[in-house]
Amino acid sequence: MRVLGIETSCDETGVAIYDGERGLLAHALYSQIDLHAEYGGVVPELASRDHVRKLLPLIEQVMAECGSQKEDIDAICYTAGPGLIGALMVGASLGRALAYAWGVPAVGVHHMEGHLLAPMLEASPPAFPFVALLVSGGHTQLVAVKGIGQYEMLGESLDDAAGEAFDKAAKMLDLDYPGGPHIARLAERGTPGRFTFPRPMVDRPGLDFSFSGLKTYTLNTVAEHAQVDGLPDEQTCADIAHAFQEAVVGTLAIKCRRALEQTGLKTLIIAGGVSANTRLRTELEAALGKIGARVYYARPAFCTDNGAMIAYAGCQRLMAGQRESLAVNVKARWPLDSLPPL
Ligand code: KG4
Ligand code: ZN
Repeated sequence: MRVLGIETSCDETGVAIYDGERGLLAHALYSQIDLHAEYGGVVPELASRDHVRKLLPLIEQVMAECGSQKEDIDAICYTAGPGLIGALMVGASLGRALAYAWGVPAVGVHHMEGHLLAPMLEASPPAFPFVALLVSGGHTQLVAVKGIGQYEMLGESLDDAAGEAFDKAAKMLDLDYPGGPHIARLAERGTPGRFTFPRPMVDRPGLDFSFSGLKTYTLNTVAEHAQVDGLPDEQTCADIAHAFQEAVVGTLAIKCRRALEQTGLKTLIIAGGVSANTRLRTELEAALGKIGARVYYARPAFCTDNGAMIAYAGCQRLMAGQRESLAVNVKARWPLDSLPPL
């Protein structure tokens, strides 16, 4: 089965062609970062309008890249939620309409299931069961995964998501949106040990997260060292970025280890935009190595939003026989553990 995957849940238009036998054939991404940059965050209405402009040309491009004709496409998968409703509606409406016109089935894919399965696109994919740490701009979740659609929520953020915390800390340091990659780059020049930020909730039992205290701590540290322009000097900014990143990474690593010990599982996968963070990857490799566990992740381009993960997840569900009615249903909120098992 060969599927066309469409991702439009937020500020990236992602398209991919995935073949159940041959694997990923082509993928392309158009990022709206520049469009939203001057607003310091994603403007939903602008995002929808840009998806409308970019989606069809991107589909044509990806089809041409892998030499696929419309007759070669057996089904269409689009992100149906969670995400920005207007943005989701663009991909869902176009995906459903194309499927209708081509006489093929279409399925709406859960964006976080897409992230969760993204490591499966790599050369040596993890085997079920495993624990998944989902860390994106909107979600921070620890999930026990027995198979596709068999998700048990172990813990999640009580306030900000990890990616959101990165974005807010970046804003305090006058860095562009999305802030994660900028904080990571600045942190490389930071002085280890100059600041030590609190690791939220690690002293409490359980697997939930909270990043709002760390956010306040960061804001206070910036204010304490601010100069006349309202920002600390360059080195201090780097030192703050370093301390902030260490605190987030340290917290995530402790909880991941705890989740593995609690479930008795030996495999962790990390997925979502923050899983592109190299410090997180090395810290997890070190922490899990000590308990004989292994960590898997996707290439950086498949950690952040992309069409390939949607094509992959949708293809698995379609191959298992899942079918949906013609009605276009998108959901701003959609609990991951409400999905049907395969
Ligand atoms: O998964 P994603 O692309 O979109 C959502 O589904 O939310 O995640 C985006 C988030 C943003 O908050 C961004 O700052 C963060 O992932 N991010 C990073 C890195 N790359 C992206 N955070 C830390 N380090 C990175 N290298
Ligand atoms: Zn995402």
